[in-house]
Amino acid sequence: MPTRFGAAIAGGVFLIMAGLPALAQAPAAPAAPAAPAAAAATPAPPAIPAAQLGGLVAQTCGGCHGADYKGVGGMPTLRGRDAAELIVAMNEFRANQRYSTVMGRLSRGLTEAEISAVSTYLAALR
Ligand code: HEC
Repeated sequence: MPTRFGAAIAGGVFLIMAGLPALAQAPAAPAAPAAPAAAAATPAPPAIPAAQLGGLVAQTCGGCHGADYKGVGGMPTLRGRDAAELIVAMNEFRANQRYSTVMGRLSRGLTEAEISAVSTYLAALR
């Protein structure tokens, strides 16, 4: 038993030692091939029906702009605003042409389709 235990430890030490050079090289090792493989293994999420997209994206705006999108505190109202005006504002945030604390980063996380859908959704609210 002690012998097998000792052998196990020796084996473990050997494996750790054998792994060390690989670890030392880790930062320089090309990580690029792993990324496409991981991406390929992850299936794209199912598409959201276009009719539901605007309402879904709008839910992410409500936390700051108010659950009814009428603005809270200093937050601007989004409800019932002209869709084209909202799209222009979002694109200006995206392009860093308009000062923002959070909207620049937030709008760059949305696709054009999402910006269009959420703007249309908000504009239609009365
Ligand atoms: C984390 C809080 C936060 C969230 C979430 C958020 N906003 Fe904003 N929004 C702001 C702030 C703060 C401003 C003022 C500009 C700035 O500082 O970024 C703003 C400004 C805007 C403006 C400009 C309005 C005007 O009259 O100047 C629009 C349009 C807008 N947001 C749309 C949206 C939409 C659409 C969403 C959801 C996709 C959203 N926001 C989500 C915080 C938020």
